[in-house]
Amino acid sequence: MVKFIDFIAVDYIMNILAIQSSSNKDGLTATLAEAVLKGFKEAGGETELIHLNLMDIKTCLACDTGWGQCRKGDCILKDEFEVLRKKIGSADAFVFATPVYWGDLSESAKRFLDRLRRVETFSGRGTCKGKKAIGITAAGGSGNGAVKSLLNLEDYLRRIGFEVIDLVPVTKFTKDYKIPMLAEAGRHLAG
Ligand SMILES: Cc1cc2nc3c(=O)[nH]c(=O)nc-3n(C[C@H](O)[C@H](O)[C@H](O)COP(=O)(O)O)c2cc1C
Repeated sequence: MVKFIDFIAVDYIMNILAIQSSSNKDGLTATLAEAVLKGFKEAGGETELIHLNLMDIKTCLACDTGWGQCRKGDCILKDEFEVLRKKIGSADAFVFATPVYWGDLSESAKRFLDRLRRVETFSGRGTCKGKKAIGITAAGGSGNGAVKSLLNLEDYLRRIGFEVIDLVPVTKFTKDYKIPMLAEAGRHLAG
């Protein structure tokens, strides 16, 4: 007996969300995030870039004695945090690029990732669980702290639940060859 199986053709387009956390919209950090998006787009995917510093993201209040309702997955602050969280949730892949300030992530990056870590780590919501992510640090000054800040970024991304597939430190000495490499990473992600 021959069994016939019906296949439904689904027109599936991958999409990627990038967040960059410099107030400079045309700076090194944005350029690096855009490089990944360019490669992803060339491979047929859809892209979106968020300039984090233009968004209203408040600082965590560390409610009660340290844990508020964030432990169950919700934050009481009213701002654009949930808008961003939803965008991450509906993306197939994720890029986070931060400038290096004082050998660390930018203030806006820490503010956003602190909140995302709280609502995702123990809540079981799984917004970011298993989602492929690339972390990028842009140390445009001396280059000091490019890797140290990247370790901190890795820690945030992994705790939040992402599947970190690459971590890229970039300085003014390495940007010329890392920008094409990041575009290749974008093509690879979409493929
Ligand atoms: C407050 C502050 C601290 C910085 N600290 C570092 C640093 O530790 N290491 C470094 O290489 N560059 C440092 N820089 C330079 C930035 O990393 C550089 O300007 C970076 O390219 C900023 O990214 P953008 O071009 O996207 O704005 C610092 C810049 C600022 C404003």
